[in-house]
Amino acid sequence: MSRGKFITFEGLDGCGKSTQLKKLASALAKQGFDVVMTREPGGTATGENIRKVLLDSRTAGLDAHAELALMFASRAQHIHEVILPAVAEGKIVLCDRFTDSTEAYQGGGRKLGSAPVLELHRILCGNLQPDLTILMDCDVAMSVSRARLRNSSHAAKNNRKSDENRFERENRAFFTRVHQAFLAIGKREPHRVSIVDARGTPNETHRKIMEIVSARLKLKK
Ligand code: TYD
Repeated sequence: MSRGKFITFEGLDGCGKSTQLKKLASALAKQGFDVVMTREPGGTATGENIRKVLLDSRTAGLDAHAELALMFASRAQHIHEVILPAVAEGKIVLCDRFTDSTEAYQGGGRKLGSAPVLELHRILCGNLQPDLTILMDCDVAMSVSRARLRNSSHAAKNNRKSDENRFERENRAFFTRVHQAFLAIGKREPHRVSIVDARGTPNETHRKIMEIVSARLKLKK
């Protein structure tokens, strides 16, 4: 059976990644591909437990290195349990965030730097590289305000028992560092990373993503 593909979606919070991931998944499924949608942190039972700890705003005082280690713990399990088996079966894996997010958020946002992230990726993840990374680019201000809006409505619905906005409570300077780190990754690895302007309508962005996928990947059924 032919090897599948591993495609990751990256970008700031609230840039519309999840919507675009779903749109691409249904377009590929319509063309007859076997598609797996997954996310990080999370994607496995263990990973989803780790996700709760990482994203819940009640998790207080988490050290940046502990945060980094948890991101990689979730990822190592995800690669082993979900990503590699699916790709080996010829499936197309669409993953909402991967190691570029760790480089941008923990490396850039938390100022841990890229070197430890790339080193841990080599040690813990066998240096697995996506076949294609869609980096959705939008303005920092737009992303922060969209994310805040979304999380305040989630929290209201859930009676504020638990939420996923620990990162979204960060300030503008943090997200500016995250944004710059993402752009630096795109510049460093243009063969893998394709930057998509995500400021248009969801349908416009979807069309751009479809063009990139067909230009960059030779998908075979
Ligand atoms: P996600 O659910 O993709 O958030 P959104 O839908 O808002 O884009 O990701 C959750 C948060 O986790 C997001 O704020 C970014 C953060 N994150 C890291 O800081 N490091 C990482 O390695 C990953 C995968 C996510």
